[in-house]
Amino acid sequence: MKSKTSESSKTIHTDSVLPADANSLNGLFGGELLARMDRVASIAAAKHSEEVVVTASVNNVSFGEPVPVGSILTIEAKVSRAFNSSMEVFIDVWKQDKMNPKKVKVNEAIYTFVALNNKGKPVKVPQIIPETELEKKRYDGALRRRQLSLVLAGKLEAKDATELRALFD
Ligand SMILES: CC(C)(COP(=O)(O)OP(=O)(O)OC[C@H]1O[C@@H](n2cnc3c(N)ncnc32)[C@H](O)[C@@H]1OP(=O)(O)O)[C@@H](O)C(=O)NCCC(=O)NCCS
Repeated sequence: MKSKTSESSKTIHTDSVLPADANSLNGLFGGELLARMDRVASIAAAKHSEEVVVTASVNNVSFGEPVPVGSILTIEAKVSRAFNSSMEVFIDVWKQDKMNPKKVKVNEAIYTFVALNNKGKPVKVPQIIPETELEKKRYDGALRRRQLSLVLAGKLEAKDATELRALFD
């Protein structure tokens, strides 16, 4: 199976924040952002694997700044690393004010997707070739984050999380 670049999975979505998307402080509701990121990231994972994908875990989300109603929101997702059937997808989010076109980074998130075959079973996906410095950094950290996610999900014994143990040895 031929490896693919991280860049080839890049998926970008730009949309407005409308009143129906808001919390009681007139900012974007966190759950709405989680759903938008899930959609964009799942497209990046599907592009990479060329299979149907499901969200296996949301490993990290940090809401850096509120996003007021009326903002323009840009969500960019790329597969940072692929394992066997699973893929880590990094998501970066920026807001723009219509009056001030400068983009401000508001959010980062890391989701994991699993590719499934037509029987609903996990299926092998291509490996990732990271190219830029940022892609290489995210690729290198992905194994550690995978082990942490599996430990938290109760699917890996902490003693077998070699990358995590290495942090403390
Ligand atoms: C995700 C899912 C397919 C994994 O199934 P499973 O029976 O655990 O399959 P496996 O144990 O073979 O794991 C498959 C892959 O998922 C990875 N995985 C499973 N749970 C994970 C987690 N919490 N974090 C990171 N990776 C995870 C495994 O490491 C494995 O990766 P690999 O093939 O690259 O080594 C299954 O749990 C599922 O269908 N979940 C529901 C998905 C869904 O409906 N999402 C939408 C949410 S509403």
